[in-house]
Amino acid sequence: MDKVIIFDTTLRDGEQAAGAGLSAQEKLEIAKQLEKLGVDVIEAGFPISSPGDFEAVRLIAKEIQGSNVCALSHANAEAIDRAWEAIREAKQPRIHVFLSASDIHLFYQLKKSREEILEISRDMVVRAKGYTDDVEFSPMDASRTEPTYIYQILEAVIKAGATTVNIPDTVGYAIPQEFGGLIEGIFNNVPNIDKAVVSIHCHNDLGLAVANSLEAIRRGARQVECTVNGIGERAGNASLEEIVMAFKTRNDFFNLTTNVDTTQIYKTSRLVSELTGFIVQPNKAIIGANAFRHQSGIHQDGVIKKAITYEIMDPKSVGIPASSLVLGKLSGRHAFKERLAELGYILEEKALSHAFQAFKELADKKREVTDRDIESLIAEELRTVSEVYHLDHVEVSCGDHSIPTATVRLVAPDGQIVADAALGTGPVDAVYKAINRIVRVPNELTEFTVKSVTEGIDAIGEVLIRIESDGVTYAGRGADTDIIVASAKAYMNALNRLLAVKKISKG
Ligand code: KIV
Ligand code: ZN
Repeated sequence: MDKVIIFDTTLRDGEQAAGAGLSAQEKLEIAKQLEKLGVDVIEAGFPISSPGDFEAVRLIAKEIQGSNVCALSHANAEAIDRAWEAIREAKQPRIHVFLSASDIHLFYQLKKSREEILEISRDMVVRAKGYTDDVEFSPMDASRTEPTYIYQILEAVIKAGATTVNIPDTVGYAIPQEFGGLIEGIFNNVPNIDKAVVSIHCHNDLGLAVANSLEAIRRGARQVECTVNGIGERAGNASLEEIVMAFKTRNDFFNLTTNVDTTQIYKTSRLVSELTGFIVQPNKAIIGANAFRHQSGIHQDGVIKKAITYEIMDPKSVGIPASSLVLGKLSGRHAFKERLAELGYILEEKALSHAFQAFKELADKKREVTDRDIESLIAEELRTVSEVYHLDHVEVSCGDHSIPTATVRLVAPDGQIVADAALGTGPVDAVYKAINRIVRVPNELTEFTVKSVTEGIDAIGEVLIRIESDGVTYAGRGADTDIIVASAKAYMNALNRLLAVKKISKG
């Protein structure tokens, strides 16, 4: 069976999505999970774009062994040199050079002729090739470029040493048959195309990214660029989980495989959602909360009799935990540890003790602790690992005839306990103002969302916020059965990320 190369760009195009704002450590954590997932190439970032992204790519290149690590670069010498600087320690480094090709971009944006673009593309591939054998080239906005010009560019960059040529549908304009036709045209009209892997990179502006990618693969492309949860610039990129599961589920149609361990999909999706702050919509294919949930009576009846009646995939095949074991306040440490292992979390003794204590506290408030509760609890543990300030205590007084008042106590970086109080327009406002009196970093709250992790009055409430500081957005999440405490945790999470980034940029 033919293999399709999975090129994951969650950490580059995905991170480019408005408000993703990941720290270098968070990017590394996702990269390690992508390696476990089995993606062939991790596009780790765009080193010339910022010192923070350079550092993230460097860290990932040093740590990742099982996947190629790729850095994106503009088609200019400085950007290529910087990309190489960031990935030089990688076991399998790749430089990805891109340059606009469509007349729209050439005329309105670059003010360059087709001949000039062709020459720059060729020269910059030669420069990248001087650093590594593994060079990818993308003619940006390819789906709106005259095909004969694309053929010329591809022939030239392959001759110059490109080993992968990527065809981006940059603005999500293509329609499956037409995009497939472009790929077929490339195979028929580029004389040296057998010397490179043909890749595609589709955006989702018309909701067609996955359909376009699959059609291109059906016509011969053998690398697909995609992101976990489909995140990315504007409406996002083709979703990795949808593409991989389409190959697996409809193997009878595609007869193609990938190196992806599909049982890691759910965990990867949760981690990306957790760290980017982008909530996965409930009806999202493969990993949405409702993707394997049967509501109508006739469907439920069928699934009970035989799952295949209404389920085309086994939820376990994407790693969705299907446990019959419900934990409660009488559950012991051993049962808790076992459950964590089943969910894919192996914690060190100290972290396990901490998580177990948090579990006990939760079980005191909640009759049944579900897998989603445990995931939320572990996410909470992970969040505290890289904290600058830690929330120690929060208390509010509010009501319909009183002025909301909050008292907070934080543990400062030097270990000192600092407390302060403030009034606000509501309890959350009062808490945030009290925190601001201690952590003095100017910022603006731009988004605030509350949702419950599971059903029931005793459910854990999850708060997602975004704050902006110096034009950069930072997401924050917090979970607790008390939504004021969850709100305080979310704010601390966002502030800690902001403080970590400020520390990097100050050096
Ligand atoms: O969408 C696009 O064209 C890109 C390129 C950099 C490949 O992201
Ligand atoms: Zn893109």
